[in-house]
Amino acid sequence: MVAARITVNWKETPISPAAPHTTVLDFLRERGLTGTKEGCAEGECGACSVLVARPGVNKPTDWVAVNACLVPVAALDGQEVITSEGLATAGESGMPAALHPVQEEMAVRGGSQCGYCTPGFICSMASEYYRPGRCAHPDSADGAGTGTEHGPNGFDLHALSGNLCRCTGYRPIRDAAFAVGTPAENDPLAQRREQSPPEAVSTEYTRDDSAFLRPSTLADALQLLRERSDAVVVAGSTDWGVEVNIRSRRANCVVAVDRLPELREMRVESDHIEIGAAQTLTEIERRLDGSVPLLAGLFPQFASRLIRNSATLGGNLGTGSPIGDSPPVLLALEASVVLADTDGEREVPLSDYFTGYRQSVRRPGELIRAVRIPLPLSPVAAFHKIAKRRFDDISSVAVAFALDIEDGIVRKARIGLGGVAATPIRALATEAALEGKPWAAETVEAASRVLQAQGTPMDDHRASAGYRSAMLGQSLLKLYAQTTEAVSS
Ligand code: FES
Ligand code: FES
Repeated sequence: MVAARITVNWKETPISPAAPHTTVLDFLRERGLTGTKEGCAEGECGACSVLVARPGVNKPTDWVAVNACLVPVAALDGQEVITSEGLATAGESGMPAALHPVQEEMAVRGGSQCGYCTPGFICSMASEYYRPGRCAHPDSADGAGTGTEHGPNGFDLHALSGNLCRCTGYRPIRDAAFAVGTPAENDPLAQRREQSPPEAVSTEYTRDDSAFLRPSTLADALQLLRERSDAVVVAGSTDWGVEVNIRSRRANCVVAVDRLPELREMRVESDHIEIGAAQTLTEIERRLDGSVPLLAGLFPQFASRLIRNSATLGGNLGTGSPIGDSPPVLLALEASVVLADTDGEREVPLSDYFTGYRQSVRRPGELIRAVRIPLPLSPVAAFHKIAKRRFDDISSVAVAFALDIEDGIVRKARIGLGGVAATPIRALATEAALEGKPWAAETVEAASRVLQAQGTPMDDHRASAGYRSAMLGQSLLKLYAQTTEAVSS
């Protein structure tokens, strides 16, 4: 097997002697690329953002911004990375001859003061700059550019939702984002998009007693998981990276599954959609393109664009967190999980999947291969996330609704809840209180009192139990207010 290597700013370099748990951030900084900064080391500030070449959704290759603090450098064996230093045109003695257009706009519009956050903003902004198909959006800013999330150049401000700045203020940064043009024809990163992405190489990277392993097929991965009961399975590392950095956890064996072709398929059949467990949330969002409205409502509220560029549905279900944002939505969609091991596959309804706090029916050696969503979809759907801030936050409470309402009667109700029990749950009593009843204020008020009593919410630093219960009841009233007009029209 070829020694593990990574291409940084167009130059190939060996990953050795980095440890298997060394992050891309530490790897870059140890090699003098100190533009990439550490702010939080847990995926919340974006100071460490870098660009990675990935298989594209609309072009052969996309430049995707990721949190370098969360990804082990061994996970990028055979891959290509661009840092803020690599965006400028190189000049003499390591000094840039010309700034990148994104850097230029940030400089002239006052988008940087202390500069600590700036390289991270630059990389996130550059990822959006190179997004294929970026163009005027219905929500695009007019000349004033206020109150919207898309610039007149089609720049989606969600691209910056994972980047924090403590001193400049966001208006000059937004001004820079809304001013960037389109890449020139001879722009090397734009040209790189037209060529095939880096291949998914298999990796066996070991140091002392620890190993980072990337099998190349599902069969190899399942065999490995059967043999290594101590293996930690990772896809985007958005959860494991935090454990490594903040809780100093280490594993003897980390197995990466995010490039297994069998986990990266998206199939739309007549009676269901199957989403490969290792597709990133950004890929799913762009491939579905709004065709599953409940998921389309979830994605903009799921962490930040930087996290969504790495996080997967398989990972969100695999960790089994009661406050993961995808389970309430998938419960309302009546999704099921396809589990695979060396003996074959089984399909488990998500409502039967969680068994306790961070526990599930998934057996040792089993891998989540895909998530299936039955069709047709219920037409009335909404996802309400209650959190302290709008982007990049953890839910205090999350509620997903999927309702069939015909002739003013609720024929079917599916409601998924997060943050109110040891596991994500279905609000079965509330569903029963709605089904067969008129979609009317009296029904909704009565059902909202039932919903308020569902689960066993706790007091913690995010919210009190009483607040969580109140928000449950309120969310149904909000849905009624939002949908009454649509249903009656
Ligand atoms: Fe804060 Fe990576 S250092 S997101
Ligand atoms: Fe200082 Fe953003 S310019 S943190």
